[in-house]
Amino acid sequence: MPPSLLQRRLHFVVGKGGVGKTTIAAALALLLVRRGRRTLAVEMDAVGRLPTLLGGSGVGYVPTEVAPGLHVLGLDGRAALEEYLGLIIPVKRLLATVFSSKLYQYFVAAAPGLKELMTVGKIWYEATREEAGRPCWDAIVVDAPATGHSLQYLRMPQAAREAFGAGLVQREATKITGLLRDRQTTAVHIVTLAEETPVTETLETRTQLVEALGLPLGFVIANRVHRRRFSPAVLERLHATTASPAAERALLACVAERATEESGWASINEAHLGRLRAGIGSAPLVELPFLFVEEFDRSCVEQLARLLEAGVAADSRGAARGRERGSS
Ligand SMILES: Nc1ncnc2c1ncn2[C@@H]1O[C@H](COP(=O)(O)OP(=O)(O)OP(=O)(O)O)[C@@H](O)[C@H]1O
Ligand SMILES: [Mg+2]
Repeated sequence: MPPSLLQRRLHFVVGKGGVGKTTIAAALALLLVRRGRRTLAVEMDAVGRLPTLLGGSGVGYVPTEVAPGLHVLGLDGRAALEEYLGLIIPVKRLLATVFSSKLYQYFVAAAPGLKELMTVGKIWYEATREEAGRPCWDAIVVDAPATGHSLQYLRMPQAAREAFGAGLVQREATKITGLLRDRQTTAVHIVTLAEETPVTETLETRTQLVEALGLPLGFVIANRVHRRRFSPAVLERLHATTASPAAERALLACVAERATEESGWASINEAHLGRLRAGIGSAPLVELPFLFVEEFDRSCVEQLARLLEAGVAADSRGAARGRERGSS
């Protein structure tokens, strides 16, 4: 049986644009560090917010420690390619000539998927890198770009393996594909909102990941879930209440409006959570609440990390109960 999802070494966080991938990747990294795992958080989009959310000031192409046991790394396909070429063309002067040549610039721009392959290759390198005979990282959390682009990255090693004849690229691509598909090591978590389009897209992404690419699915995380529901009677009373000073009346009207809106979102989320649950099969579903804050900072990420841990534990207790029922 594969190790539990949190015990795996390589975590990808994917999902539709804007659903909270970076936030959840940061929360997952904090959770893993708190469990004593030496963790590397990887930003695939070199200009993203992941380092800031984790307390760093910027991101570089070399892992930078931002807290004890927690490093961040920003990836950029071009830098990955140049590092790789540096390994196979060890003469610095020759390398500099290659990089500045028009042919190389043209090659990087034109070769389809080369940057993607190199980026995933760099993740593979970090995931398999050893120091003093043990893996360098206990956990790697990758904040992936929005769905379409993520799938392009995750598909690339497989595509390269099929496209290239026997040789260096095929050998490298085969190693990377093997690691991505390894249930002992890898988990691909999908973040979503409990709304119409994100849920539809999540179910499609799940099919792509599992059936087309053969990758191990991790948690499905429904983020920014609204839960507060007021009974219609309470809402009606709130709307009907009249206060005498005009200022209080305005305030009450605002409260009534917000309560109605919140109830509306809670109903929408509930309906789509049902659709999500029905469509993801046995994948563990974790719900995280919408946090009402003026500024979303590291303390919010810490709060989500605690809620994520509690959600994961609740889900595994539910799964264990399900197994007990199944075997009795
Ligand atoms: N649980 C939450 N409660 C409230 N706000 C949240 C929550 N999770 C994320 N957010 C906010 O939602 C916005 C989008 O989050 P984030 O940047 O993590 O999404 P993303 O999927 O990485 O976006 P992109 O596709 O642009 O990279 C941010 O403003 C973030 O602060
Ligand atoms: Mg992001």
